[in-house]
Formats: sequence, structure tokens, C-alpha cells
Amino acid sequence: MGTAATAVQDSQRPATGSGHAETERGADVTISSSPLTVWWRSSLGLKLLVAITGVVLFLFVIGHLLGNLQIFRGPAALNSYSEKLRALPILLWGARLGILVCAILHVFATLSLALLNRRARPIPYSRRTPVQATVSSRTMVYSGLLVLAYVGYHLAQFTWKITNPAISHLLNGQGKPDVYAMVVLSFRNRLVSGSYIIAMIVLGFHLNHGLASIFQTVGWMTPRNKRVIERIAFWSALIIVAGYIAIPLSVLLGLVPTVRGGM
Ligand code: HEM
Repeated sequence: MGTAATAVQDSQRPATGSGHAETERGADVTISSSPLTVWWRSSLGLKLLVAITGVVLFLFVIGHLLGNLQIFRGPAALNSYSEKLRALPILLWGARLGILVCAILHVFATLSLALLNRRARPIPYSRRTPVQATVSSRTMVYSGLLVLAYVGYHLAQFTWKITNPAISHLLNGQGKPDVYAMVVLSFRNRLVSGSYIIAMIVLGFHLNHGLASIFQTVGWMTPRNKRVIERIAFWSALIIVAGYIAIPLSVLLGLVPTVRGGM
């Protein structure tokens, strides 16, 4: 989102669909006449799409964290939470589909924005005077792609269960999938836990800037409330990251029992 700052300024000139739009440096950008294409290609439309899908993904990240924190209540709590989700297949698959669609749109809109921004800026980055930019804002595309790569690995590990089938297919006393054992045994591996912790930190940077950007996109950020919004975004990202990191870290520190002694 951060890389799109200039594109947003451009977008504030209405895209009329008449064929051409001029950027602040006078570059002529051709715009297709179909209203949907105009909206899709206008940086404001793309930013809104990034913001809306970002909110949905953010809510998922919070919900998923609350579910995963059940691990601290013991095997029965985490396994029964997972079982309850599976017992509602329509809800589960509806949510999965919604998240997938949002994730795809989020990635495509962000990359389109970055491309649009680059095309509209004939002067190379190296000669730009840096505006107020934080590490989070300058690295949004990269942190987003890293989180995407992490989610790919994460799904392979815990949802498709292909990275370590020996511990992913364990069953509990009731013959149901032992999600607790799968998570704890996976995080006993320092490499796995370490990569999760790094990925969570990257996610934190992404959330920090992404959350503040959403307020900016919908026009709720003013010079007066900017600091407050940035603080809310920072603390929300920090709490979420701390919550997620607490899980692999506690396993590594031996604070979460394995239940299957010796494994
Ligand atoms: C300590 C951190 C995390 C743990 C322990 C964890 C645990 C899990 C588990 C056990 C599953 C499989 C659920 C099941 O099929 O029963 C899962 C699925 C998933 N996780 Fe995570 N997760 C973590 C972090 C994250 C993060 C940070 C994200 C997103 C950025 C994420 C995104 C997902 C997604 C998209 C799924 C698939 C959901 C589904 O298929 O229903 N997870 N996670």
C-alpha cells in the first residue's frame, strides 16, 4: 500500500473513462473506456479493494489467533475448537472460500497498484526526494509477498499435512485429528518455530502500515487524528504478533506440554 502513495494522489483526479488521464508529472496514462476497467485501473478503486479485502483478512488473523490461543488451555480445548469448526462444513468452506477470494484480490490489487504507480512515475526512485516513509510502508509489497509465502508453507504443514505426515495425522483418544499434538510437535523443531517467529514479525510490519493505510484510504485519517490512528495500528499489530509468537516460543521453552511424552 505504501508504494502507492503517489498513485493515490493521481487517483484524486477523476478517471472519467474518456480515454486519458494525466499524472502529476504530466505523463499521459491511457485508460480503457469500460467503467469496470476504469474503476479497476484507477488507483483509488484499487486502494479501496486492498482496504476492504485487508479488513477481511485482518479479521481472519484475529479470529485465527483467538482459536490458536486455545493451545494454552490444553489439548482438549484446542482439539475441540478444531472439531467444532469441522462440524460446520458449510460455514467452514464458506469462510475458506471468502478468505481465498479476498487473499487473491488483495494480492492482485496491491501488485496492480505498485505497477500503476511505477508506470505513472517516469523519474527513477533513486532521484526521488524521500517523503515521510517508515520501514513498514516502504516494504509493503515485499512483506506481503513474504506473508503469502509463509501462508503457503503453513497450509502445506497444517491443512494439507504434507510437510511432516508422521505428526500431522496423529489421532487423539477419541480417534479424532490431534491438532494439539500436531502443533506442539511441529514447534519442537527450532527451524520451524524460528521461521514462524520471523514470519510473524514480517506480518507485524505489514499489519502496522496496512491498518493505518485503511483509515487513510477511506478518508478517516486527518492531520489531527493521524498520530492516534498510527498508534492504534502499531499496538494492534504488536498485540497480534505477540499472541502468535507466544505459541512457538512457549513450545520451545517447554511451557506447553507435549502430552505424547518422548515425541
Ligand atoms: C503460531 C501461529 C499459528 C498456528 C499455531 C496456526 C495453526 C493453524 C492450524 C492448526 C491450522 C489447521 C486448522 C485445521 O485444519 O484444523 C491452520 C490453518 C490456517 N492458518 Fe494458521 N496458524 C498460525 C498462524 C497463522 C497466520 C499468522 C496466518 C495468516 C497470516 C494463518 C493462516 C492460516 C490459514 C489461511 C489456514 C487455513 C484455514 C482453513 O483451511 O480452514 N495461520 N493454522
